[in-house]
Amino acid sequence: MPADSLVPRPAELSTGDYDGLVLTPSTRIDADHAARGTEAWLRTELGAATGLPLQRGDGQNAQIRLSVDPAAGLGSEGYRLIVDGEGALVVGHDPAGAFYGAQTLRQLLPAAAYRRAPVDSAARWTLPSVRITDRPRFGWRGCMLDVARHFMPKHDVLRFIDLLAMHKLNVLHLHLTEDQGWRLEIKRYPRLTEVASWRTESQVGAGSPPVFDGRPHGGFYTQDDIREIVAYAAARHITVVPEIDVPGHSQAAIAAYPELGEGEPVGVARHWGIIDNVLNVTDATLEFYRNVFDEVLELFPSTYVCVGGDECPKEQWRRSETAQWRIREEGLADEGELQSWFIRRFDTYLAERGRRLLGWDEILEGGLAPGATVMSWRGTEGGIAAAKAGHDVVMCPTDTSYLDYRQSEGDDEPIPVGTVLTAADVYTAEPVPAELAEAGAERVLGAQVNIWSEHLDSPRSVDYMAFPRLSAFAEAAWSEGARDYAEFQPRLERHLLRLDACGVEYRPLSGPHPWQRRPGVTGRPR
Ligand code: ACM
Repeated sequence: MPADSLVPRPAELSTGDYDGLVLTPSTRIDADHAARGTEAWLRTELGAATGLPLQRGDGQNAQIRLSVDPAAGLGSEGYRLIVDGEGALVVGHDPAGAFYGAQTLRQLLPAAAYRRAPVDSAARWTLPSVRITDRPRFGWRGCMLDVARHFMPKHDVLRFIDLLAMHKLNVLHLHLTEDQGWRLEIKRYPRLTEVASWRTESQVGAGSPPVFDGRPHGGFYTQDDIREIVAYAAARHITVVPEIDVPGHSQAAIAAYPELGEGEPVGVARHWGIIDNVLNVTDATLEFYRNVFDEVLELFPSTYVCVGGDECPKEQWRRSETAQWRIREEGLADEGELQSWFIRRFDTYLAERGRRLLGWDEILEGGLAPGATVMSWRGTEGGIAAAKAGHDVVMCPTDTSYLDYRQSEGDDEPIPVGTVLTAADVYTAEPVPAELAEAGAERVLGAQVNIWSEHLDSPRSVDYMAFPRLSAFAEAAWSEGARDYAEFQPRLERHLLRLDACGVEYRPLSGPHPWQRRPGVTGRPR
């Protein structure tokens, strides 16, 4: 594909006068030690799509050469890609940079380079002559996937990781626990998967009174599944950030272990929304979650570990003897400070283990834990306040980052919720709030989009909501400079051919296919 079809847009690109490099049965790839992972990836992916052997060369006879050179001045995750009369050369600042250079190289080939087997024996695999120098604007280019409301099978998570990598995103935030399901095997507490990993039925849509489907839903990742997911992501330079949501959004865990809760025994939730059943604040519950996190830390090497902290109703704590005792004992002002006290226990726990606590912006209420990094979702205010107080932040405000929100005003949008968030809105959103432009911008680690799955009951519906908005987001998170949707759209249209080749069931720019609609299912548009 032509060099002006790249997504995300590279920092510097010029086209050269050479004919370009045609990949043939004798094309060889060579890589220095630090780029070997990228070499293996490129050979596997391009080998499958082209049917070419792409054998290992020895430097002299290799047409594609991959290397890592921290002294090349390319910047963290940066790379240079040159295709000229000699061949194709990728130099990464670091192994991630080499990988992104190879991703760009793949985008320069016809879209069929994204297929898993050759479809045209006469295809010509030409890399156009270019010189590209590129590096990301932000170090945190993330996507949160809610695999708790609706489980996403491991196979589809691996596929999703490939799609993130294709877009040069580098954080997969996995939302693993919810009122409606617990998706992670914890060896010490088997009932979290025996009981909490499934529900008897699910609410369909967001109507009132709720409608249920009468169909059990569930699933979980074994610890080996997680090891596989984490390693697969790491090979693509993606960090998997786990989220175990406390002290709210915990009804599934309470269903499995009623002693964690404040009230009557409950089942795994079947309906959506903010649920009153929350964790109690006993020493035993804190101990339980420390034991859970011990296993989580063993599985996920990520520095950042998300403890949720969002949407924790305080009703039960107001009536709870233990909660009121804890407030008195710790000299806390109210239930807001009690939540902060709870979160701080895990801030200390994580800091002692060399990790960092990540939480939704409610963790500001009642005082932010000293080591906390904040995900600003209820607008930008939380992120601004946290950054001004010297905390790191990740920006993901609902009105620009919630990919479960409807993609147009149209009546055809499936189960429309939230405000309208078009691909153009996502594309033009500026991750750094104006209030931080003068001071505090350095606290913005980056941005992420969030894909909540109450209304996404299959990987097909995740595809519909994620794409092409995730492609638009990738450019906002990676590329410096002004973003004009009129310039982006033709590039996006060419990029859709790549998504087609990958088998992504995105929302066409003109609106949903008939089979992507959900007539008769009530949403909650705002
Ligand atoms: C959230 O959307 N509850 C973080």
